[in-house]
Amino acid sequence: MSEAVRIVEVGPRDGLQNEPRSIPAAVKIELIERLAAAGLSTIEAGSFVSPKWVPQMADSDAVLAGLRRRPGVRYPVLVPNLQGLERALAAGVDEIAVFTAASDAFNRKNINAGVDESLQRLQPVVGQALAKGLRVRAYVSTVLGCPYQGEVAPAEVVRVAQAMADMGCYEVSLGDTIGVGTPGKARALLRACAQAVGMPRLAVHFHDTRGQALANVYACLEEGVRVVDASVAGLGGCPYANGASGNVATEDLVYMLDGLGLASGVALEPLVETGRWISEQLGREPQSKLGRIRRTA
Ligand code: HMG
Ligand code: MG
Repeated sequence: MSEAVRIVEVGPRDGLQNEPRSIPAAVKIELIERLAAAGLSTIEAGSFVSPKWVPQMADSDAVLAGLRRRPGVRYPVLVPNLQGLERALAAGVDEIAVFTAASDAFNRKNINAGVDESLQRLQPVVGQALAKGLRVRAYVSTVLGCPYQGEVAPAEVVRVAQAMADMGCYEVSLGDTIGVGTPGKARALLRACAQAVGMPRLAVHFHDTRGQALANVYACLEEGVRVVDASVAGLGGCPYANGASGNVATEDLVYMLDGLGLASGVALEPLVETGRWISEQLGREPQSKLGRIRRTA
Protein backbone atom coordinates (compact mmCIF):
# COMPACT_ATOMS: atom_id res chain seq x y z
CA MET A 1 0.00 0.00 0.00
CA SER A 2 1.23 3.48 -0.69
CA GLU A 3 -0.10 7.04 -0.77
CA ALA A 4 -1.38 9.29 1.96
CA VAL A 5 -4.36 8.83 4.24
CA ARG A 6 -6.42 11.78 5.48
CA ILE A 7 -7.65 11.35 9.01
CA VAL A 8 -10.85 13.11 10.01
CA GLU A 9 -10.54 13.63 13.76
CA VAL A 10 -13.99 13.41 15.32
CA GLY A 11 -13.00 13.31 19.01
CA PRO A 12 -14.18 16.83 19.90
CA ARG A 13 -17.65 16.03 18.46
CA ASP A 14 -18.37 12.29 18.27
CA GLY A 15 -16.00 11.77 21.19
CA LEU A 16 -17.49 14.29 23.57
CA GLN A 17 -21.16 14.46 22.55
CA ASN A 18 -22.13 11.62 24.86
CA GLU A 19 -20.13 12.63 27.95
CA PRO A 20 -22.44 12.84 30.94
CA ARG A 21 -20.52 15.53 32.79
CA SER A 22 -20.32 19.05 31.45
CA ILE A 23 -16.99 19.86 29.81
CA PRO A 24 -15.95 23.53 29.77
CA ALA A 25 -15.66 25.14 26.35
CA ALA A 26 -12.05 26.02 27.23
CA VAL A 27 -11.19 22.31 27.48
CA LYS A 28 -12.85 21.60 24.13
CA ILE A 29 -10.91 24.46 22.56
CA GLU A 30 -7.62 23.26 24.00
CA LEU A 31 -8.34 19.75 22.73
CA ILE A 32 -8.97 21.00 19.19
CA GLU A 33 -5.88 23.22 19.23
CA ARG A 34 -3.67 20.39 20.51
CA LEU A 35 -4.99 18.06 17.80
CA ALA A 36 -4.20 20.67 15.13
CA ALA A 37 -0.72 21.13 16.59
CA ALA A 38 -0.19 17.35 16.33
CA GLY A 39 -0.81 17.60 12.60
CA LEU A 40 -4.48 16.72 12.17
CA SER A 41 -5.79 18.68 9.21
CA THR A 42 -9.53 17.98 9.56
CA ILE A 43 -10.99 18.25 13.05
CA GLU A 44 -14.74 18.08 13.66
CA ALA A 45 -15.05 20.92 16.12
CA GLY A 46 -18.64 20.75 17.30
CA SER A 47 -22.27 20.12 16.56
CA PHE A 48 -25.12 22.52 15.87
CA VAL A 49 -27.85 20.02 16.67
CA SER A 50 -30.68 20.72 19.09
CA PRO A 51 -29.24 21.31 22.60
CA LYS A 52 -32.37 19.60 23.92
CA TRP A 53 -31.25 16.43 22.20
CA VAL A 54 -27.49 16.67 22.80
CA PRO A 55 -26.79 19.06 25.71
CA GLN A 56 -23.04 18.42 25.65
CA MET A 57 -22.73 20.19 22.30
CA ALA A 58 -24.84 23.22 23.33
CA ASP A 59 -21.71 25.38 23.61
CA SER A 60 -20.38 24.69 20.10
CA ASP A 61 -20.98 28.35 19.21
CA ALA A 62 -18.65 29.39 22.06
CA VAL A 63 -16.09 26.75 21.08
CA LEU A 64 -15.95 27.96 17.49
CA ALA A 65 -15.78 31.59 18.66
CA GLY A 66 -12.84 30.89 20.98
CA LEU A 67 -10.86 28.70 18.62
CA ARG A 68 -7.62 29.99 17.09
CA ARG A 69 -7.97 28.48 13.64
CA ARG A 70 -4.78 27.33 11.99
CA PRO A 71 -4.29 27.97 8.31
CA GLY A 72 -4.65 24.74 6.36
CA VAL A 73 -6.80 23.05 9.01
CA ARG A 74 -10.50 22.41 8.41
CA TYR A 75 -12.97 22.53 11.28
CA PRO A 76 -16.29 21.02 10.12
CA VAL A 77 -19.34 21.00 12.38
CA LEU A 78 -22.36 18.71 12.42
CA VAL A 79 -25.61 20.28 11.15
CA PRO A 80 -29.04 18.54 11.20
CA ASN A 81 -31.34 21.19 9.72
CA LEU A 82 -31.63 24.79 8.50
CA GLN A 83 -31.55 26.10 12.07
CA GLY A 84 -28.20 24.37 12.54
CA LEU A 85 -26.95 25.80 9.26
CA GLU A 86 -27.82 29.33 10.45
CA ARG A 87 -25.77 28.76 13.60
CA ALA A 88 -22.89 27.31 11.59
CA LEU A 89 -22.85 30.31 9.27
CA ALA A 90 -22.96 32.70 12.23
CA ALA A 91 -19.97 30.85 13.68
CA GLY A 92 -18.02 31.45 10.48
CA VAL A 93 -17.44 27.82 9.56
CA ASP A 94 -16.41 26.88 6.05
CA GLU A 95 -17.44 23.24 6.22
CA ILE A 96 -20.42 21.35 7.62
CA ALA A 97 -21.30 17.67 7.95
CA VAL A 98 -24.87 16.49 7.48
CA PHE A 99 -26.04 13.09 8.65
CA THR A 100 -28.65 10.43 8.24
CA ALA A 101 -28.73 6.65 8.55
CA ALA A 102 -29.53 3.65 6.42
CA SER A 103 -32.04 2.53 9.05
CA ASP A 104 -35.47 4.07 9.65
CA ALA A 105 -35.59 2.86 13.24
CA PHE A 106 -32.27 4.46 14.19
CA ASN A 107 -33.07 7.69 12.37
CA ARG A 108 -36.36 8.07 14.25
CA LYS A 109 -34.50 7.86 17.58
CA ASN A 110 -31.59 10.04 16.46
CA ILE A 111 -33.18 12.76 14.35
CA ASN A 112 -36.93 12.17 14.69
CA ALA A 113 -37.42 11.33 11.01
CA GLY A 114 -37.29 8.27 8.76
CA VAL A 115 -34.63 7.89 6.07
CA ASP A 116 -36.57 9.42 3.17
CA GLU A 117 -37.96 12.24 5.27
CA SER A 118 -34.42 13.02 6.48
CA LEU A 119 -33.10 13.11 2.92
CA GLN A 120 -35.83 15.58 2.03
CA ARG A 121 -34.98 17.68 5.08
CA LEU A 122 -31.31 17.73 4.14
CA GLN A 123 -31.81 18.75 0.53
CA PRO A 124 -32.28 22.50 1.27
CA VAL A 125 -29.62 22.40 3.99
CA VAL A 126 -27.02 21.08 1.56
CA GLY A 127 -28.29 23.32 -1.24
CA GLN A 128 -28.07 26.49 0.85
CA ALA A 129 -24.71 25.52 2.34
CA LEU A 130 -23.24 24.95 -1.12
CA ALA A 131 -24.72 28.23 -2.33
CA LYS A 132 -22.93 29.99 0.55
CA GLY A 133 -19.67 28.39 -0.54
CA LEU A 134 -19.40 25.83 2.26
CA ARG A 135 -18.00 22.36 1.79
CA VAL A 136 -20.49 19.69 2.79
CA ARG A 137 -19.55 16.26 4.07
CA ALA A 138 -22.11 13.51 4.72
CA TYR A 139 -22.46 10.67 7.16
CA VAL A 140 -24.50 7.55 6.67
CA SER A 141 -24.97 5.76 10.01
CA THR A 142 -25.78 2.15 10.88
CA VAL A 143 -24.18 0.89 7.67
CA LEU A 144 -23.34 -2.53 9.12
CA GLY A 145 -26.21 -2.93 11.57
CA CYS A 146 -28.79 -1.03 13.58
CA PRO A 147 -29.34 -1.19 17.35
CA TYR A 148 -33.12 -1.17 16.84
CA GLN A 149 -33.85 -3.02 13.61
CA GLY A 150 -30.79 -5.33 13.41
CA GLU A 151 -29.73 -6.13 9.84
CA VAL A 152 -29.32 -3.28 7.39
CA ALA A 153 -29.41 -4.16 3.69
CA PRO A 154 -26.22 -3.09 1.86
CA ALA A 155 -28.39 -1.95 -1.06
CA GLU A 156 -30.08 0.54 1.27
CA VAL A 157 -26.69 1.90 2.39
CA VAL A 158 -25.70 2.33 -1.26
CA ARG A 159 -28.98 4.10 -2.01
CA VAL A 160 -28.56 6.57 0.85
CA ALA A 161 -24.85 7.17 0.10
CA GLN A 162 -25.72 7.82 -3.52
CA ALA A 163 -28.47 10.26 -2.51
CA MET A 164 -26.05 12.23 -0.31
CA ALA A 165 -23.45 12.31 -3.07
CA ASP A 166 -26.09 13.41 -5.59
CA MET A 167 -27.08 16.29 -3.29
CA GLY A 168 -23.55 17.60 -3.67
CA CYS A 169 -21.75 16.29 -0.58
CA TYR A 170 -18.08 16.00 -1.52
CA GLU A 171 -17.52 12.96 0.68
CA VAL A 172 -19.70 10.32 2.29
CA SER A 173 -18.51 8.74 5.52
CA LEU A 174 -19.83 5.23 6.12
CA GLY A 175 -20.56 4.84 9.82
CA ASP A 176 -20.59 1.56 11.71
CA THR A 177 -22.35 3.39 14.52
CA ILE A 178 -22.54 0.47 16.95
CA GLY A 179 -19.37 -1.33 15.96
CA VAL A 180 -20.95 -4.57 14.79
CA GLY A 181 -19.03 -4.89 11.52
CA THR A 182 -16.24 -7.33 10.76
CA PRO A 183 -13.58 -6.92 8.04
CA GLY A 184 -15.20 -9.05 5.33
CA LYS A 185 -18.55 -7.29 5.60
CA ALA A 186 -16.90 -3.88 5.84
CA ARG A 187 -14.88 -4.52 2.71
CA ALA A 188 -17.89 -5.78 0.73
CA LEU A 189 -19.99 -2.80 1.73
CA LEU A 190 -17.24 -0.34 0.83
CA ARG A 191 -16.83 -2.02 -2.55
CA ALA A 192 -20.57 -1.76 -3.26
CA CYS A 193 -20.64 1.93 -2.27
CA ALA A 194 -17.51 2.65 -4.33
CA GLN A 195 -19.21 1.20 -7.38
CA ALA A 196 -21.99 3.74 -6.91
CA VAL A 197 -20.16 6.93 -5.88
CA GLY A 198 -16.47 6.20 -6.49
CA MET A 199 -13.83 5.39 -3.87
CA PRO A 200 -12.34 8.92 -3.75
CA ARG A 201 -15.64 10.22 -2.35
CA LEU A 202 -15.81 7.70 0.49
CA ALA A 203 -14.57 7.67 4.06
CA VAL A 204 -14.92 5.02 6.75
CA HIS A 205 -16.07 5.60 10.32
CA PHE A 206 -15.73 2.65 12.67
CA HIS A 207 -16.71 2.44 16.30
CA ASP A 208 -14.72 -0.06 18.32
CA THR A 209 -17.55 -1.49 20.41
CA ARG A 210 -16.55 -5.08 19.64
CA GLY A 211 -12.82 -4.53 19.09
CA GLN A 212 -13.10 -4.68 15.29
CA ALA A 213 -12.44 -1.08 14.34
CA LEU A 214 -8.76 -1.24 13.41
CA ALA A 215 -9.20 -4.55 11.57
CA ASN A 216 -12.09 -3.02 9.64
CA VAL A 217 -10.01 0.05 8.78
CA TYR A 218 -7.21 -2.19 7.52
CA ALA A 219 -9.56 -4.17 5.28
CA CYS A 220 -10.96 -0.93 3.86
CA LEU A 221 -7.48 0.51 3.26
CA GLU A 222 -6.69 -2.64 1.29
CA GLU A 223 -9.88 -2.05 -0.66
CA GLY A 224 -8.64 1.45 -1.50
CA VAL A 225 -10.25 3.94 0.88
CA ARG A 226 -7.95 6.82 1.86
CA VAL A 227 -10.05 8.82 4.33
CA VAL A 228 -10.54 7.45 7.84
CA ASP A 229 -12.47 8.97 10.75
CA ALA A 230 -10.95 8.49 14.20
CA SER A 231 -11.27 9.80 17.72
CA VAL A 232 -8.34 10.67 19.98
CA ALA A 233 -8.12 8.40 23.03
CA GLY A 234 -10.96 6.36 21.49
CA LEU A 235 -13.44 8.83 22.99
CA GLY A 236 -17.09 8.64 22.27
CA GLY A 237 -20.32 7.06 21.23
CA CYS A 238 -23.68 8.14 19.97
CA PRO A 239 -26.33 9.05 22.60
CA TYR A 240 -29.02 7.34 20.49
CA ALA A 241 -27.09 4.11 19.86
CA ASN A 242 -27.30 1.88 22.89
CA GLY A 243 -23.92 0.36 23.80
CA ALA A 244 -21.98 2.33 21.22
CA SER A 245 -18.43 3.08 22.31
CA GLY A 246 -15.78 5.33 20.82
CA ASN A 247 -14.34 5.41 17.35
CA VAL A 248 -11.11 3.73 16.42
CA ALA A 249 -8.49 5.58 18.49
CA THR A 250 -6.53 8.08 16.41
CA GLU A 251 -3.24 7.15 18.15
CA ASP A 252 -3.63 3.45 17.29
CA LEU A 253 -4.64 4.31 13.74
CA VAL A 254 -1.61 6.57 13.21
CA TYR A 255 0.68 3.88 14.62
CA MET A 256 -0.70 1.39 12.12
CA LEU A 257 -0.51 3.84 9.21
CA ASP A 258 3.12 4.66 10.12
CA GLY A 259 3.91 0.94 10.09
CA LEU A 260 2.26 0.54 6.69
CA GLY A 261 4.17 3.50 5.26
CA LEU A 262 0.93 5.44 4.73
CA ALA A 263 1.56 9.12 5.46
CA SER A 264 -1.01 10.89 7.63
CA GLY A 265 0.98 14.00 8.55
CA VAL A 266 0.25 13.37 12.23
CA ALA A 267 3.02 13.27 14.84
CA LEU A 268 2.43 10.36 17.17
CA GLU A 269 4.02 11.67 20.36
CA PRO A 270 2.00 14.89 20.80
CA LEU A 271 -1.11 12.97 19.73
CA VAL A 272 -0.61 10.33 22.44
CA GLU A 273 0.02 13.13 24.97
CA THR A 274 -3.20 14.83 23.88
CA GLY A 275 -5.10 11.57 24.33
CA ARG A 276 -3.71 11.21 27.86
CA TRP A 277 -4.48 14.83 28.68
CA ILE A 278 -8.12 14.73 27.57
CA SER A 279 -8.63 11.39 29.34
CA GLU A 280 -7.29 12.97 32.53
CA GLN A 281 -9.71 15.86 32.07
CA LEU A 282 -12.54 13.33 31.83
CA GLY A 283 -11.24 11.35 34.80
CA ARG A 284 -10.51 8.11 33.03
CA GLU A 285 -7.86 6.01 31.28
CA PRO A 286 -7.33 6.53 27.56
CA GLN A 287 -9.18 3.95 25.48
CA SER A 288 -6.33 3.82 22.96
CA LYS A 289 -3.75 1.06 23.31
CA LEU A 290 -0.90 3.53 22.83
CA GLY A 291 -2.17 5.85 25.56
CA ARG A 292 -2.03 2.99 28.05
CA ILE A 293 1.62 2.13 27.53
CA ARG A 294 3.48 3.33 30.60
CA ARG A 295 6.02 6.06 30.03
CA THR A 296 9.53 4.67 30.57
CA ALA A 297 11.53 7.91 30.59
P1 HMG B 1 -37.14 17.70 16.58
O1 HMG B 1 -37.47 17.70 18.06
O2 HMG B 1 -37.92 16.81 15.69
O3 HMG B 1 -37.10 19.14 15.92
O4 HMG B 1 -35.60 17.34 16.47
P2 HMG B 1 -37.83 20.48 16.14
O5 HMG B 1 -37.58 21.25 14.90
O6 HMG B 1 -39.24 20.23 16.58
O7 HMG B 1 -37.01 21.19 17.33
C1 HMG B 1 -37.18 20.88 18.69
C2 HMG B 1 -36.52 21.99 19.51
O8 HMG B 1 -35.12 22.01 19.24
C3 HMG B 1 -37.03 23.38 19.14
O9 HMG B 1 -36.93 24.17 20.30
C4 HMG B 1 -36.03 23.88 18.14
O10 HMG B 1 -35.92 25.28 18.12
C5 HMG B 1 -34.74 23.28 18.67
P3 HMG B 1 -38.28 24.61 21.12
O11 HMG B 1 -39.18 25.23 20.13
O12 HMG B 1 -38.82 23.29 21.67
O13 HMG B 1 -37.73 25.51 22.18
N1 HMG B 1 -33.79 23.04 17.58
C6 HMG B 1 -32.55 23.53 17.55
N2 HMG B 1 -31.87 24.32 18.39
C7 HMG B 1 -30.61 24.65 18.05
N3 HMG B 1 -30.00 24.19 16.93
C8 HMG B 1 -30.65 23.39 16.06
C9 HMG B 1 -31.98 23.04 16.36
N4 HMG B 1 -32.89 22.26 15.73
C10 HMG B 1 -33.99 22.28 16.48
N5 HMG B 1 -30.05 22.95 14.96
C11 HMG B 1 -33.48 17.37 15.39
C12 HMG B 1 -34.97 17.15 15.24
C13 HMG B 1 -32.82 16.86 14.13
C14 HMG B 1 -33.22 18.86 15.56
C15 HMG B 1 -33.00 16.61 16.65
O14 HMG B 1 -33.43 15.30 16.57
C16 HMG B 1 -31.49 16.62 16.80
O15 HMG B 1 -30.87 17.65 17.03
N6 HMG B 1 -30.87 15.41 16.71
C17 HMG B 1 -29.43 15.28 16.79
C18 HMG B 1 -29.03 14.00 17.43
C19 HMG B 1 -27.52 13.89 17.42
O16 HMG B 1 -26.82 14.89 17.42
N7 HMG B 1 -27.01 12.64 17.44
C20 HMG B 1 -25.60 12.42 17.42
C21 HMG B 1 -24.95 12.77 16.12
S1 HMG B 1 -25.09 11.51 14.87
C22 HMG B 1 -23.79 10.43 15.23
O17 HMG B 1 -23.18 10.54 16.25
C23 HMG B 1 -23.40 9.41 14.20
C24 HMG B 1 -22.10 9.74 13.46
O18 HMG B 1 -21.01 9.86 14.36
C25 HMG B 1 -21.77 8.64 12.42
C26 HMG B 1 -21.87 7.22 13.02
O19 HMG B 1 -21.18 6.91 14.00
O20 HMG B 1 -22.63 6.45 12.44
C27 HMG B 1 -22.22 11.07 12.70
MG1 MG C 1 -19.92 8.12 15.14
